[in-house]
Amino acid sequence: MYGDQEALNDALCQLAKLPPLVTSWEIETLKRQLADAERGERFVLQGGDCSESFEDCESSAIAKKLKILLQMSLVLMQGGKSIIRVGRFAGQYAKPRSASTETRNGVTLPTYRGDMINRPGFSLADRTPDPELLLRAYERAALTINFIRSLIDGGFADFHHPEYWDLGFVTKSPMAAEYMRSVESLGESLRFLKTITGHTPSEISRVDFFTSHEGLHLYYEQAQTRQVPRRPGWYNLATHFPWIGERTRSLDGAHVEYFRGITNPIGVKIGPALTPAEAVRLCAVLNPENEPGRLTLIHRFGADRVEQCLAPLVEALARSGARVVWCCDPMHGNTETTKSGIKTRRFEKVLSELGQSCRILRECGAHLGGVHFELTGDNVTECLGGASGVTEADLKRDYRTRVDPRLNYEQSMEMAFLLVRLMKENGR
Ligand code: PEP
Ligand code: CO
Repeated sequence: MYGDQEALNDALCQLAKLPPLVTSWEIETLKRQLADAERGERFVLQGGDCSESFEDCESSAIAKKLKILLQMSLVLMQGGKSIIRVGRFAGQYAKPRSASTETRNGVTLPTYRGDMINRPGFSLADRTPDPELLLRAYERAALTINFIRSLIDGGFADFHHPEYWDLGFVTKSPMAAEYMRSVESLGESLRFLKTITGHTPSEISRVDFFTSHEGLHLYYEQAQTRQVPRRPGWYNLATHFPWIGERTRSLDGAHVEYFRGITNPIGVKIGPALTPAEAVRLCAVLNPENEPGRLTLIHRFGADRVEQCLAPLVEALARSGARVVWCCDPMHGNTETTKSGIKTRRFEKVLSELGQSCRILRECGAHLGGVHFELTGDNVTECLGGASGVTEADLKRDYRTRVDPRLNYEQSMEMAFLLVRLMKENGR
């Protein structure tokens, strides 16, 4: 893919020398928490942009991403479980594409593959893969994590003061009153605990945040895969939780081979083409010791296919004894194109896939362990529907994503409220 091998090697050598973005102990903490999610004691909220851009590496965009995930997690806590917050950020810069070229006005060029690989502009220079971008991606990831850690340390995410988490949408959303009740009841519980114990349990007041991205570009991932003192194995220190995409999960492919060798908890996106036999094999290859918390299956079948696809996989894995966290990505199976050619997703389809997944998993004796959303903290108009009623005509107004359409701020909050209802209805 890269024309200039020397420049590539040079960038990779630099990348391999730079300090890690995350630590092995954070990674092990996440793995333990995911083991809890597998037992039904915690719930994963994973979300962020489909494709992060270098341009969006700025303070207000990062703070908004953190805020929407925090606010959603606060709502989801009403389901009675601790929430594991995983941002789809600080590395989500490489994208698989269904077409390798793009044609505009008779000119055909390579597709845009994410800011880590090439540039979105439509010229040959923009679309030629540039190894320097690997370093720029690492730096943007580092800047993002640095700011997130500072915000968290500075109290931005402090559950003692959820009332400070300003709610832009609050006045016009029908969910506003419900949200304010959640905030008040959380504040009251914390004050009550503080009164009777004299201190606030750190488990509640401290907010952990983890990062994740699709581990697509193996050069980038490998350069940051290292051994650490006093722990066995190899850690991908570019992110806590890398996942394998639906297009690269083939059993004899390079991605499975790489992921097999790392110690991090990992995800695998799975779609309708995966057979139960392949699923069993995939789990055996990626988690040969059947270690709890190691493997999360992120299923993305679409509202119209989840009924037929999910149960056979859950049953086959239960028979094989494989331990997995079931996480629903209700976005990628529900993408459609409007008559005017805009890629979108419908709120009700996203919700429907979540609802069906909760029910099917319960009927199979398993449970939904988490959710994976493409979302943003801004009120963009990329997905249709929701209480604020984004219509096809609205899509043109504020459509910013470079790849897949994201739930906007209001749609994400509303989804969190509807999801917590589903969680309560479906027991554990
Ligand atoms: C994505 O998460 O943006 C993606 C490409 O998903 P999938 O691999 O499930 O298609
Ligand atoms: Co996407």
